[in-house]
Amino acid sequence: MGLLDGKVAVITGAGHGIGRGHALEFARHGAKVVVNDLGGSLRGEGQGRAADETVALIDKRGGTAAADYSDVSDFEQAGALVQRALDAYGRLDILVNNAGIVRDAVIWNMPPEDFEAVIRVHVMGTWSTCHHAARHWRAEAKAGRPVNGRIINTTSGAGLGGNFGQSSYAAAKAAIVAITQTVALELHRTGVTVNAVGPSGLTRITASIPGMPDSFEPDEVPEDEWREMDPANSSPLVAWLASDEADHVTGQVIRSIGDRIIWMRGWKEHRTISADGKRWDATTLGSLINQDLFETRAPGMRF
Ligand SMILES: NC(=O)c1ccc[n+]([C@@H]2O[C@H](COP(=O)([O-])OP(=O)(O)OC[C@H]3O[C@@H](n4cnc5c(N)ncnc54)[C@H](O)[C@@H]3O)[C@@H](O)[C@H]2O)c1
Repeated sequence: MGLLDGKVAVITGAGHGIGRGHALEFARHGAKVVVNDLGGSLRGEGQGRAADETVALIDKRGGTAAADYSDVSDFEQAGALVQRALDAYGRLDILVNNAGIVRDAVIWNMPPEDFEAVIRVHVMGTWSTCHHAARHWRAEAKAGRPVNGRIINTTSGAGLGGNFGQSSYAAAKAAIVAITQTVALELHRTGVTVNAVGPSGLTRITASIPGMPDSFEPDEVPEDEWREMDPANSSPLVAWLASDEADHVTGQVIRSIGDRIIWMRGWKEHRTISADGKRWDATTLGSLINQDLFETRAPGMRF
């Protein structure tokens, strides 16, 4: 009995790297998988058939999968992707938003087109598939059919704390957390959980960082062999979040780095000062903020 037997999953950006690891893991646990991938470059240029390679690997291992080449950043194509799962397998249980691109540069060197392209793939891509899946699940619930849906979005350390040279990517990944927390509230009564994972692994994205080695290919070594930077290391967490066992978990951000799983909590009220019912005076505010709020003159500086 597989953890995901009978489930149908859409996984975006599953032609390479982390998404490919998720697709293989989901198929291994019995899910039927729609393997989406536009198949373009790391920067999101061009298109190709990377999804076919993942589907071929799943076939070879005895699983069930169908390829899809939609561009998730296009609202209509994101809808067609959700529809594809319904047409191919008759239902949709799980949506994993994993597709991503990077166009890194310090802000003064980043062309606005590059900023927009990164935001479009991550933010519009995640929002659009969530929108279409939500409409499907709401219609199911209204028709009296029980819904037990799962959305797992993909954030990153850059979105949770910023990263040099990644103002576009960090903005996109922070927005994905905001979408996750909001849609978790909106879909709670429909029977859908919405969480975000922050994965890690050697992929084309990390290989683009100077000094990092090349990415792994999933069929290079046996399935169960442990490798510190394997892009499939976060896939068991994603599979569990997608399963019936995780129906109590929603609106959460969980990172999976190497062999560690880390529950993230952020933006909680830390320390407060009050003007006792009066208006603050900007000329005296500075010393109070430094002494009583930050308790240091240079909060948050990491250099
Ligand atoms: N590698 C890491 O260490 C790391 C860390 C944190 C977060 N992430 C996130 O994990 C996800 C997967 O990244 P990866 O490292 O495996 O990189 P990757 O480049 O190997 O995989 C991303 C996939 O998304 C696909 N894609 C891009 N734009 C698309 C679009 N518009 N429509 C459909 N597919 C599209 C690409 O073709 C590619 O196959 C991304 O969201 C990334 O931001 C990665």
